[in-house]
Amino acid sequence: MADKLMDKIVSLSKRRGFVFPGSEIYGGLANTWTYGPLGAQMMRNIRNHWWQSFVVSKPEIYGLDSEIIMSPKVWEASGHTSGFSDAMIECKKCHRRTRADHLIENNLKDVKVEGLPTEKLDEIIAENKLPCPYCGAFDWTPARNFNLLFETHIGIVPETESLAYLRGETAQGMFVNFLQVVQSMRPKLPFGIAQIGKAFRNEITKGNFIFRTLEFEQMEIEYFIRQDNWEKHFDEWKELMWNWITDLGVSPAKLRWREHTKDELAFYSIKTEDIEYDFPFGGFKELYGLAYRTDYDLKNHAEKSGVDLRYLDPTTNEKFFPHVIEPTFGLNRTFLTLLIDAYIEDSGRVYLKLDKRIAPYRLAVFPLVRNKEQITNKAKEVFDLVKDKYPTAWDDRGNIGKRYFSQDEIGTPYCVTVDYQTLEDNTVTIRDRDTMQQERIKIDDILKHIA
Ligand code: GAP
Repeated sequence: MADKLMDKIVSLSKRRGFVFPGSEIYGGLANTWTYGPLGAQMMRNIRNHWWQSFVVSKPEIYGLDSEIIMSPKVWEASGHTSGFSDAMIECKKCHRRTRADHLIENNLKDVKVEGLPTEKLDEIIAENKLPCPYCGAFDWTPARNFNLLFETHIGIVPETESLAYLRGETAQGMFVNFLQVVQSMRPKLPFGIAQIGKAFRNEITKGNFIFRTLEFEQMEIEYFIRQDNWEKHFDEWKELMWNWITDLGVSPAKLRWREHTKDELAFYSIKTEDIEYDFPFGGFKELYGLAYRTDYDLKNHAEKSGVDLRYLDPTTNEKFFPHVIEPTFGLNRTFLTLLIDAYIEDSGRVYLKLDKRIAPYRLAVFPLVRNKEQITNKAKEVFDLVKDKYPTAWDDRGNIGKRYFSQDEIGTPYCVTVDYQTLEDNTVTIRDRDTMQQERIKIDDILKHIA
């Protein structure tokens, strides 16, 4: 059932222009995907909604748009060049590589492997004689750590001097620019710096559609606080994160918080909890993370750069490194979760019950018939009235039933039809995606109705 659901979502995504396989005309490139016309609009809607919720509506949170390529020293100071790696094993028969933790997780459902040392992973694989997922052989090399950062080179200087990395998380942009934000905005603690942007990881295992990809977008906040009240802020952010995703309609019964064990904590964190979603592939998996990063990052950057990154409290004159609570939201996983959670099949009808703020189109406008100029012109007037306010679809193909079917499948909340009666009294029918009820309303009331 679960596999079928994913097959349906992948197929609908491709057929209707949400997500296409990356580089498909060249045979594809694993773990890369293109967001099509509807996907690009939906991604934009999620970004805008997140920015509105956490930056525009929160005066103590400042937006940022830092660069993807930063000095390689950033990644040395942050610990990513040494600590940001996956344990890989290679099959000696077919020479394909795979992540040791995923091999174990895919075969032994109850074993938690995150953060275990490579020797322990080797032991579990050997004890359970876990075979190669590609050729079935059981002949592995020992697990070896493999760095996830993508390397690149700048200019034409010798390789060792030109080495740079594509950022592995947006978070470092916030730490590296901490002082500039403090000097330009003069914020008082607690305050946050937020950004939305691409991050890159050299992931080499099964991606499960857009769940795990080489490039993806993060929506992250570094929330700077005093150390003594970190637990209060942690709990507040837990609530804000939960409310944000459930307010978008994702079923709370399919979400849960899970705290990282000591073994699986990232190298920078002393407490992390993930919001997990019950995905159709393999059950509960990480959707978002909430980490208490202490003062690890600012301290390290201060030490390695030689620049004093301490915060000067304007009232007490104390100088100290603020501590950090980091709520991190994956944009692509949000997109995937919303699609899966919204997918409904009901008596042969397929529809996406997407929140109207997120659906690619807020409404669709139909002229009842195609060959009647007055109706088409009136429908164009209606389209022009709404198109600058909301993404709006236009459809004059086939019959009305087919058009409803087509808009339901992409989650359009409202369909407005201009018919003969419109020409007489300036009213239209407006049909609700979820109830399938139609109402007659005045053209002047459309915007109010769909707001
Ligand atoms: N700054 C903290 C950080 O980067 P993370 O748990 O490694 O933490 C944050 O990543 C979020 O980014 C995850 O919760 C997930 O939503 C998303 N994410 C991580 N790796 C991803 C990948 N390869 N593909 C898609 N999304 C990913």
